[in-house]
Amino acid sequence: MTRELTLVTGGTGTTGSRVVQRLTARGEQVRVASRHSACALDWEQPGTWEPALAGVSRLYLAYAPDLAVPGAPETLAAFTRCAATAGVQRVVLLSGRGEPGAQAAERAVRAVADAAGVDLTVLRCSWFVQNFTEGQFAPAVQAGELALPVGDVAEPFLDADDVADAAVVALLDDGHAGRTYELTGPRALDFAEAVRECAAALGRPVTFRPVSTAGFRAALASDGVPDDVLDLLTHLFTEVLDGRNSRPTDGVQQVLGRPPADLADAVRRSAAAGCWA
Ligand SMILES: NC(=O)c1ccc[n+]([C@@H]2O[C@H](COP(=O)([O-])OP(=O)(O)OC[C@H]3O[C@@H](n4cnc5c(N)ncnc54)[C@H](OP(=O)(O)O)[C@@H]3O)[C@@H](O)[C@H]2O)c1
Repeated sequence: MTRELTLVTGGTGTTGSRVVQRLTARGEQVRVASRHSACALDWEQPGTWEPALAGVSRLYLAYAPDLAVPGAPETLAAFTRCAATAGVQRVVLLSGRGEPGAQAAERAVRAVADAAGVDLTVLRCSWFVQNFTEGQFAPAVQAGELALPVGDVAEPFLDADDVADAAVVALLDDGHAGRTYELTGPRALDFAEAVRECAAALGRPVTFRPVSTAGFRAALASDGVPDDVLDLLTHLFTEVLDGRNSRPTDGVQQVLGRPPADLADAVRRSAAAGCWA
């Protein structure tokens, strides 16, 4: 029997690397794709898409930097068309919760998938716990102070391990086609509370300092962060973090039949694995 091949885009990133790890552990055939992977795929270089999709029947679609950036719906629609032509039958799309731009990208992918008879499952996720432990906020947490342009808005931070578990189920098991799952952690915490949990896991003080958007942009700009990334972060902090996503959902329970991991447990696990070492 020929084993099916799964293409994992963003395959070296926060969720993609976890999806790869799980599929590989289950004996699945996996192709890891990103700009710096052996299978070089670049969203900005359509010529790289067809070789990456050759022989693939299942696709984990994680777009970077974010589904909400200008042009993402068009790029993702074009890539999904290319995937359908290559013979992909099932797509799991990683998306962001409560983001109009991300939802536009979802609609663009869904229109192409539906027209081509490709199964699509959308994982619409809240903020990842791993932003604190291995993503863009990790160095600041490790240094002892995280300064962000956000007040006491609560967010049900989601463990990327739960995202990957859900993605693998949706990729391998039947019954998830056409579904959109809103995945969140079990409780909403504001950023100061989340940082307190990180400090507890780290075993030393870490402070959270709310700053103005202008001050945040100026600090990042002086660190050399490019304008388009500044625009994306400003959009996420000022427009998306307004409380619309504070309510936890039962999405993880629906897909996995178990509750999601709590931020406190996830950061303790990450600290024990040496995330801030
Ligand atoms: N962070 C959150 O809290 C959060 C919450 C909800 C949804 N999301 C969504 O998650 C997605 C990002 O996924 P992630 O967090 O798993 O990944 P990530 O940790 O942000 O890593 C990005 C991945 O994409 C690759 N990549 C970057 N630019 C690329 C390009 N131009 N072409 C092809 N590949 C590229 C990177 O590898 P190379 O550098 O080798 O290309 C890497 O594998 C975004 O769409 C975001 O909206 C994030």
